[in-house]
Amino acid sequence: QVERTLAMVKPDGVMGNYSEEIKKMIAATGFVIAAEKVVQLDEAAVGIFYAEHSQREFFPSLVKFMTSGPVLAMVLEKENAVAQWRALIGPTDATKARISHPKSIRAMCGSDSQNNCVHGSDSHQSAAREVAFFFGNHKSGEVMVGH
Ligand code: CMP
Repeated sequence: QVERTLAMVKPDGVMGNYSEEIKKMIAATGFVIAAEKVVQLDEAAVGIFYAEHSQREFFPSLVKFMTSGPVLAMVLEKENAVAQWRALIGPTDATKARISHPKSIRAMCGSDSQNNCVHGSDSHQSAAREVAFFFGNHKSGEVMVGH
């Protein structure tokens, strides 16, 4: 059935001018972009969004990266959207993605395991939480593009 997931172009992708190319790949794969917004995250917002990583040694660096410029957050709709978007973005580490998934988005515009250009929810539970983080609790089918 049709699912929703949260997709995000990170500051490296936005500042590298990859947003339009990524949206073309999203459309070519059959996703509908149900909502989108450009947001400048602050430290507190990153702490909430990435709460599960807050005790990792890379977290301070992740906060610095994620607040270094705007992100493009999108709600994607498609059958099996969570897994399909994860497949399209490829592995977390862009250096590995270039070898194992050369057509993936991270292979195209990511640099390494931190600056990896895009994010995708890793489960249905994460997708619900992450969509609500950026867009509030909208129902599927509700018009919210541009909000
Ligand atoms: P993402 O899939 O958005 O989920 C958590 C993010 O933390 C990840 O992408 C990277 O940006 C970052 N990250 C994950 N692992 C590492 C790592 N080993 N070193 C630095 N950053 C990481």
